[in-house]
Amino acid sequence: MEINNRINKLRKYLKEFSLDGFLVTNQTNIKYLTNFTGDDGIVLVTFESVYLISDQRFKIELNNLKDIQPIISNEYLKATCDIISKDHLIAVGFEDSIEFSMYDYLDENATSDIVSISNLIESLRSIKSNNEIQKIKKANLIAKKAFDFFIDKIDYQTERSLAIDLDYFLKKNGADKPSFDTIIASGSNTVLPHSTISNRKINHNDLVMLDFGYFVNDYTFDITRTISLGKQNKEIKKVYNVVLDALNETTKLVRSGLPANLLYERAKKILKSNNLDQYFTHGIGHGIGLSIHELPNLNSFDELISGQIITIEPGVYIPGLGGIRIENDILVTENGYENLTPISTEFIEL
Ligand code: GLY
Ligand code: MN
Repeated sequence: MEINNRINKLRKYLKEFSLDGFLVTNQTNIKYLTNFTGDDGIVLVTFESVYLISDQRFKIELNNLKDIQPIISNEYLKATCDIISKDHLIAVGFEDSIEFSMYDYLDENATSDIVSISNLIESLRSIKSNNEIQKIKKANLIAKKAFDFFIDKIDYQTERSLAIDLDYFLKKNGADKPSFDTIIASGSNTVLPHSTISNRKINHNDLVMLDFGYFVNDYTFDITRTISLGKQNKEIKKVYNVVLDALNETTKLVRSGLPANLLYERAKKILKSNNLDQYFTHGIGHGIGLSIHELPNLNSFDELISGQIITIEPGVYIPGLGGIRIENDILVTENGYENLTPISTEFIEL
């Protein structure tokens, strides 16, 4: 049912663009349109059929998928061009993220016109169904469990060993795979916005930044918390509260129809009034779903749409002092928002 809705929406766009076919080569988009879990194939959607072209490795899965026409071939592009010719397609859209070699082949061999289209499936993906929202909520519940484990487990060990324990806990508790490598940054490493884990041992009175994301039933959460092992001085606590204020005030703006760039502007303004804006060196957030970074683009003037799920993640990275980032997953609703991340944002000093 959900798959049919997606295909129907896509066909509406095809009509609008006067196309009689659309070629999908992005593997995440293929999964979205067909439930195909293999990571190698091409989909061609026409008004009559959804062809899924892949090879022998995926034959059984292809034959079991509903509502698709399986085509088994080792030459995906040749098979695609054969369908285009057999179905007398006149104008076929393709994703502008396609590999150049594929484009070149189609340009030479397709009997139809081929038309580059940007972000078509990605735009559909950005608006989540109720079912998808429930999945991201569930992913956040597992994240909460893992965060409680992290708080319980953290002591004077290395970032690496703590990350291994956390990753193991997540996998044991229903998370499938990381959507990016878990970031645990301690002490001086917190000044790097995207630190990687190191063998640095966590010391007494260190700040510790945890940024983690895992797919659960295909949908990812993305959460950051910054805590302290031991006590922090007043200056750090003040900075923490400013970042928290930026998170809360920015979140309050979220609603359907809001120009996305206003989120960044609000966070920046709050940080600026505390002379911290020069340390805010990245965007305010991004869409999440089947991938860790997806639409909507929060740097754009595009209006937010009800059903989109975004992160809000203000952060400051002050050389010689430390870095603080706090990140929640937020659902855009008609009149506001829902915070999907059930983890406290109060400053934790262990
Ligand atoms: N939390 C990882 C990222 O947003 O890139
Ligand atoms: Mn993020």
